[in-house]
Amino acid sequence: MAPSVFAPNLLAGKSALVTGGGSGIGAGIARLFAQHGAKVALVGRTAQKLEATAAAITASGGVATVHPCDVRDFPALEKAFDDAASANGGLDVLVNSAAGNFLAPAATLSANGFRAVVDIDLCGTFNACRAAFAHLSKRGGSIVSITATQADVPTPLQCHAGAAKAGIAKLTRDLALEWGKLGIRVMAVAPGPIEDTEGMSRLAPGDAADKLKSRVPLGRYGTIDEIAGATLFLVSPAGAYVTGATLLMDGGTSLLGPGPFLEMMGG
Ligand code: NAP
Ligand code: COA
Repeated sequence: MAPSVFAPNLLAGKSALVTGGGSGIGAGIARLFAQHGAKVALVGRTAQKLEATAAAITASGGVATVHPCDVRDFPALEKAFDDAASANGGLDVLVNSAAGNFLAPAATLSANGFRAVVDIDLCGTFNACRAAFAHLSKRGGSIVSITATQADVPTPLQCHAGAAKAGIAKLTRDLALEWGKLGIRVMAVAPGPIEDTEGMSRLAPGDAADKLKSRVPLGRYGTIDEIAGATLFLVSPAGAYVTGATLLMDGGTSLLGPGPFLEMMGG
């Protein structure tokens, strides 16, 4: 991992929970938070992935607990938040990174396929925010949800993910308004294509990756560490006057529109 540009221990004494924390962007955020002194709780469906990320954090001197569950299962998620808060001295920060996605034309996507993605991404994010509220409202705190450029850029083969992520962006603003007076800040980060992630291996496999990279105005994919750094900024004292905002981090990709997705559709 590249050296952090931040002062050390920005999250000393804090407790954070990351959904989707067992892999990819969520795991990168959990690792950076732990490096900055937070105790982190990891939520996801696959215990082995959570345990591997927790082991890496512990090996680096951090503190991590694992809470395998599905974000679509509200009672299980509520228990995970209660267990994490008991283990780590309450809760200060929630990051929603759990999501599911695949390329599918709207014309053939099944109703259940559309619903599965909206259930995980949008309803799962609401479930986690709702379960976190009991803890965050005790002493204030912050929430960052990972959305995507598909929320704003019309993108072929992505109507399910776009609808879900657009819903999260709106939920972010509504919760920021409702919970601001309680000292709870609610924000989002919208990444563009990020290197070495499950998301990009599903959305731009093989040649599509090279085409997409060559078109990004900054000339490359982003990194997990860059998304983690932005998330750290938002939840840290440096971000204390930010709420209701979505931070776009896409190397300028969304300035171009849907790009190679149009070609994948044959357009
Ligand atoms: P990833 O590694 O697959 O991360 C998603 C995580 O969510 C996995 O650890 C997965 O673990 C967990 N998850 C999925 N369904 C779940 C459920 N029902 N309940 C609980 N956990 C669940 O993919 P990623 O690419 O890093 O994506 C992370 C986030 O960044 C997502 O929100 C994605 O939409 C967003 N994003 C990614 C990119 C990109 O370029 N990769 C771009 C824009 C936005 P289990 O399967 O074990 O549950
Ligand atoms: N194309 C079209 N439809 C698909 C699909 C694909 N590639 N993959 C799944 N579906 C459909 C299924 O056919 C099913 O619909 P059906 O009952 O009408 O056949 C529906 O989606 C649900 O599938 P299921 O496998 O039961 O869902 P799940 O809840 O177990 O898994 C997914 C959710 C499909 C999103 C799965 O890919 C997943 O768990 N992803 C997590 C990791 C990930 O996507 N990471 C990237 C994050 S950006």
